Amino acid sequence: SIQAFIFDLDGVLTDTAEYHFLAWKALADELGIPFDRHDNEALKGVDRMGSLSFILSKGELELPEEQVLVLADKKNRHYQQLIEHMSPADLFAGAHQLFADLKSRRIAIGLASASKNAPMVLDRLGIADQFDYVADAAKVKQGKPHPEIFLTVADALTIAPQDCVGIEDSLAGLQSIQDAGMHSVGIGDKQVLNGAEQVYAQLHEVDLAEVLALGKPQR
Ligand code: BG6
Ligand code: MG
Repeated sequence: SIQAFIFDLDGVLTDTAEYHFLAWKALADELGIPFDRHDNEALKGVDRMGSLSFILSKGELELPEEQVLVLADKKNRHYQQLIEHMSPADLFAGAHQLFADLKSRRIAIGLASASKNAPMVLDRLGIADQFDYVADAAKVKQGKPHPEIFLTVADALTIAPQDCVGIEDSLAGLQSIQDAGMHSVGIGDKQVLNGAEQVYAQLHEVDLAEVLALGKPQR
């Protein structure tokens, strides 16, 4: 049965997926590389350097590593400006209720965000203390879609992957959850996230009983 919920952050608990998009879009525009929301779907959940190399290769731009690092840093500084003003009001509706419902059922709560800015965002949202374990994105060797980050969180919580639910807004993240052998919940567009076992358009629509039923033996 389900004993842990492992959340993604950007696009699941708050709208920072939009800020990542805006910051990448600004950089791509500056480089003269076409980049739109459709391209961005492939980047959701993908780490900073992986995202940048996707954009550069789309523009058929090959740059020395030094310059690539400068661009990555530039995007990150822009992103950090965009999240500077965030507050608890930016937490998606339904998050506190969901945390409370999970706690009352003694279901552990983990975070599997690829973002090195995740601790700052959690602080700004006022939810840093809600998690039993938060993965350190800097220590993850193989980013999403590899299952490492979700498996690391399950391991730290000492809960078997098949007793975990991973909750994601990105295709890369869902792949990561599936390859970790966990149950998957998508937040967003059903057409896009068609690999997830359950998809809800928004976080507040998550039906906990329905999700927990995923962990019950089928009959
Ligand atoms: C993920 C986002 O959560 O974190 C990606 O979905 C982002 O868009 C990645 O690239 C890395 O974030 P950061 O803050 O470390 O650059
Ligand atoms: Mg996300």
